[in-house]
Amino acid sequence: MKPREIRDGVYWVGAVDWDRRLFDCLIPLPDGTSYNAYLIKGSNKTALIDTVDTPMWQKLIDNLNQLGVDSIDYVIANHAEPDHSGAIPQILEKYPGATLLATPRCKDILVDLLMVPKERISTVNDRETVSLGDRTLEFIHIPWVHWPETMGTYLREEKILFPCDFFGSHLATTDLYVTDQGRVHEAAKRYYAEIMMPFRSNIQKNLAKLKDYAIDIIAPSHGPLYDNPDFIMEAYQHWADDKPKNHVVVAYVSMYGSTRRMVEYLVAALAEKGISVEQFDLTVADLGKLAMALVDAATLVIGTPTVLTGPHPAAAYAAIAVNALRPKLRYISVIGSYGWGGKSVEQLSSMIPNLKAEILEPVLSKGAPLEADFKALENLVTIITTKHKEGDFDPVLS
Ligand SMILES: Cc1cc2nc3c(=O)[nH]c(=O)nc-3n(C[C@H](O)[C@H](O)[C@H](O)COP(=O)(O)O)c2cc1C
Ligand SMILES: [Fe+2]
Ligand SMILES: [Fe+2]
Repeated sequence: MKPREIRDGVYWVGAVDWDRRLFDCLIPLPDGTSYNAYLIKGSNKTALIDTVDTPMWQKLIDNLNQLGVDSIDYVIANHAEPDHSGAIPQILEKYPGATLLATPRCKDILVDLLMVPKERISTVNDRETVSLGDRTLEFIHIPWVHWPETMGTYLREEKILFPCDFFGSHLATTDLYVTDQGRVHEAAKRYYAEIMMPFRSNIQKNLAKLKDYAIDIIAPSHGPLYDNPDFIMEAYQHWADDKPKNHVVVAYVSMYGSTRRMVEYLVAALAEKGISVEQFDLTVADLGKLAMALVDAATLVIGTPTVLTGPHPAAAYAAIAVNALRPKLRYISVIGSYGWGGKSVEQLSSMIPNLKAEILEPVLSKGAPLEADFKALENLVTIITTKHKEGDFDPVLS
């Protein structure tokens, strides 16, 4: 896509990646993504905020050429992850007079990852400013959204915040700004769930820090820009809130149907009690959808048969992923079926040390579930319902 003017002398110069379907070899991208870079021309100096993923470096250069940019004074690396820093070497080569600005930790990582020469990088402190003449950039350190080194850049005169991944959405679109709020809400929630959720307490701190700033536009590094910043800031406030919702996630795998029968019974019984439930078959589930469901869930139930003395590998994979994502779950249980014996529950429990959730009594059936197993599931439903009532959890709104 060609450069897009945001304000006089402020341009989007990034790249849209329509066809990408997987991020970090882990995260599904149903709608592609974009790597947003921004050019700011001041009366004396010119700055480039972030770059693009390495394979797309030529698109960034083409955009800068189209705008006739023959010199850049500052290249601002808000974040060292290569989807934004990947074209820095090409930019520094094309613009030999440019100085790279980054936080001290970002500098170290850029040197390690991209072999950027140290002497080309100047570090900036929290709330430090640089002047472009008639325009001022302020650097706001926002660590751990989702790497330790990240900062946002605030263009004071235009009240535009460039927060890099913070508030981003993996969405390839020709819309410069959000047009379909529902679609962007979903994409941004998916992004939050997969990328930001493990750092919830840092997200809360950084959200509070940004309250000091008057912001007209949020220009993130993925997806469309927000000309209504309250929309995304309020959504983040809800997602990062400590209290879960009256919501249960049931993630399961079943080879021959016994565990599935237990899952279906449990889901129907919970729904009857007025609890919203999402059920995921882990052999076909989209990891992003599972992560999104966990943004709100108070309880997770993992369903697995015993296989080779432990949980099915698909259930183990899900447990490891959930442990890494650190959702605000309060309760976890395991249900499933076994043939002769094993240690599914013990092994699954050992895979989730990060979760501060209480483990509720598991329900394991020997072979196909019989009346006693359904009774045990009924008991689990009663426990979950009581705990959710005691927690006074709100219904899920989104
Ligand atoms: C490849 C394979 C390995 C298994 N390993 C064990 C095991 O180590 N211990 C056990 O108790 N059952 C084992 N089983 C039996 C299953 O746990 C049992 O059949 C269970 O009812 C299957 O549940 P499902 O119908 O939900 O797939 C194994 C089954 C298969 C197919
Ligand atoms: Fe990132
Ligand atoms: Fe990113």
